[in-house]
Amino acid sequence: VTPAGRERIPVGRDGESSVVWLGTGVLESTEELLVSPSGRFLLFATPAAPAAADSVRRALGKRLLLDRTVDDRESAKTLDAAGAIAAEALAAGVRRDDALVAVGGGVVTDVVGFAAAILLRGVAWNAVPTTTAGMADAAIGGKTGVNHPLGKNLLGAFHPPAAVLADPSVLATLPDRDHRAGLVEALKAVWIGNADLAARAEREIPALRRRDAEALRELLGGAIRVKAAIVADDPRDASRRQLLNFGHTLGHALEAAGGFAALRHGEAVAWGIAAAVEISRRRAGLSADEAGRILAALSAIGPFPPPERDPGRLRPFLAMDKKATARGTAAILLAAIGSPRIDPAVTAEEWLDAAAIMSLS
Ligand SMILES: NC(=O)c1ccc[n+]([C@@H]2O[C@H](COP(=O)([O-])OP(=O)(O)OC[C@H]3O[C@@H](n4cnc5c(N)ncnc54)[C@H](O)[C@@H]3O)[C@@H](O)[C@H]2O)c1
Ligand SMILES: [Zn+2]
Repeated sequence: VTPAGRERIPVGRDGESSVVWLGTGVLESTEELLVSPSGRFLLFATPAAPAAADSVRRALGKRLLLDRTVDDRESAKTLDAAGAIAAEALAAGVRRDDALVAVGGGVVTDVVGFAAAILLRGVAWNAVPTTTAGMADAAIGGKTGVNHPLGKNLLGAFHPPAAVLADPSVLATLPDRDHRAGLVEALKAVWIGNADLAARAEREIPALRRRDAEALRELLGGAIRVKAAIVADDPRDASRRQLLNFGHTLGHALEAAGGFAALRHGEAVAWGIAAAVEISRRRAGLSADEAGRILAALSAIGPFPPPERDPGRLRPFLAMDKKATARGTAAILLAAIGSPRIDPAVTAEEWLDAAAIMSLS
């Protein structure tokens, strides 16, 4: 923690690395923290977080070559949208040593980051996440991309932002449902990677729900560090990075079976974790006590809309997980909180059985 009360968290390895700045008031130091080799910036911002975009505008003044808003509906996270962003940057005279700034949730950082990856074969970019999920997950680790009619996030690139500015005070205006879905992703990270912080966060769910600054900073910092450590080991998603998919095997299927409308991503992941906890009890030795703690914490973040449980409807979506390789989709289980296991032997039928009985009260 620096004197100003902000944390500096490095993510990734040399040549492919980001610096995350986390803390209330980080956006008051935008001018000092945003990175551009030329000193010039192009801003692409969600209309939903005007205060965050305004602090970037105020700090950069005349160094801002372009100032655009971005449609941040999930349905607008397309190759066309990335192309339009790149085209606007070219029309504005962008050069190789300029940098983009993306202000918004995961939709904006994914699509603007991808535009930065393809623009002139890669220009620098900065992320200013404005959602809980964005700060804990989407803006961290260098994955950028867009959706395709055949599936979510099927087109993309590894292109880490140079700097990530995460200021939890920006979350004050986020709708409750989005905030709670984001908390699920943040807890997911500490459940796989930091048992001490997980225990603390579980006790602080009421404070996290009401967006208490200190509770949020602690959990977000922990989640970012867990992701940073895993990404440093496996930047290109060849092995250990799979651990971050705890709760996502069934979660993705639930999300898809609901037409991406019934459940927020984080809500689907909450149900997916509930199922993974059941399977972890049987196959990985997770204790009844720790399983109960995880389910109680998820219930306290909820309620979440009821998931699809019909095996006939879920089965096709379990079979086409994007992470599937010739070897199939490995399950991420917990032997204990903080001790994840990759189990290649879990079948689709076991997920369907767990989906039929999982419960969050
Ligand atoms: N690249 C990655 O590693 C990664 C990881 C996880 C998720 N993602 C992607 O992130 C996307 C989801 O991102 P998200 O959960 O941040 O949601 P989001 O970007 O869809 O934003 C959620 C909603 O909050 C609004 N909003 C954003 N900031 C706000 C604020 N400060 N105040 C009020 N409203 C605000 C948005 O307009 C939107 O309606 C998905 O497309 C997912 O694929 C990417
Ligand atoms: Zn996720």
